[in-house]
Amino acid sequence: MTIQWFPGHMAKARRQVTEKIKLIDIVFELVDARIPMSSRNPMIDEIISSKPRIVLLNKADKADAAITKQWLEYFNDKDIPAIAIDAQTGTGLKQITTLSKELLKAKFDKMAEKGIKPRAIRALIIGIPNVGKSTLINRLAKKNITKTGDRPGVTTAQQWVKVGKELELLDTPGILWPKFEDQLVGFKLATTGAIKDTILNLQEITVFALNFLKDHYPNRLKERYSIDEIPDDIVDLFDEIGKKRGCVISGGQIDYDKTSELVLREIRTDKLGRLSFEIPENFQEE
Ligand code: G4P
Repeated sequence: MTIQWFPGHMAKARRQVTEKIKLIDIVFELVDARIPMSSRNPMIDEIISSKPRIVLLNKADKADAAITKQWLEYFNDKDIPAIAIDAQTGTGLKQITTLSKELLKAKFDKMAEKGIKPRAIRALIIGIPNVGKSTLINRLAKKNITKTGDRPGVTTAQQWVKVGKELELLDTPGILWPKFEDQLVGFKLATTGAIKDTILNLQEITVFALNFLKDHYPNRLKERYSIDEIPDDIVDLFDEIGKKRGCVISGGQIDYDKTSELVLREIRTDKLGRLSFEIPENFQEE
């Protein structure tokens, strides 16, 4: 589902998340393992404020495993606990409870000292649209929770869902917007399929994606499209892929829209293997 984020929606979404945060002990910030920075909300630190947080690098099954490892180290270096997960199959989810307990031990010990009855840890899943929030809630809850509140204006009654005995989640996630201002971020979101009904130009997204693949995964491109030598000029690369895949219009001209759709579909469905479109090296300052 594509959400149109207008300033009013953003303010409302922020208010809703702020309200939910008051109810919980810990935030699970869901990001896309292929683009951990571009799939974050620009104001997340401010919104979460002092609540403990775990960054969950979701869709790790689609990301380059070596790069995901680097991202885990990156967050670790910044003292931000992070786990790589696959919400669809459930890989990595056990660690979420273990780590939450570890992070909240002092708080819960203090509560016990004061004679407060032990209770489950309360958590909220937060993330931008399509990052996998509903999938994760359903997987953790082991039941199908209807996808509601996916529009920032929708208010539903808060309910807790149990995850084993020690953890409970708010059944509706916190939905926040991505960083729209930066065009590069937009290209990355579109390439990975986070922006579905694309608001960017299809051919421009593909130029970004092909340039990235050319620099970082040239062999995958060569294999997938049976190319011996990757041309320097991106238009020549487009032409070669288009020709190889029969994306031509009458007169033998390359159909660039069709070629773009094909390349993006193949990237999103992992036909070029597991890919990461962001590397920690480029984010050392943040
Ligand atoms: P949201 O609530 O944050 O908006 O996201 P949602 O759970 O709806 O997930 C968005 C899409 O991402 C879904 O695919 C879902 O199956 C997929 N997904 C979620 N987690 C993972 C994961 O860990 N690995 C993989 N491979 N996919 C995951 P969908 O509904 O089929 O949409 P689409 O595939 O057509 O985009």
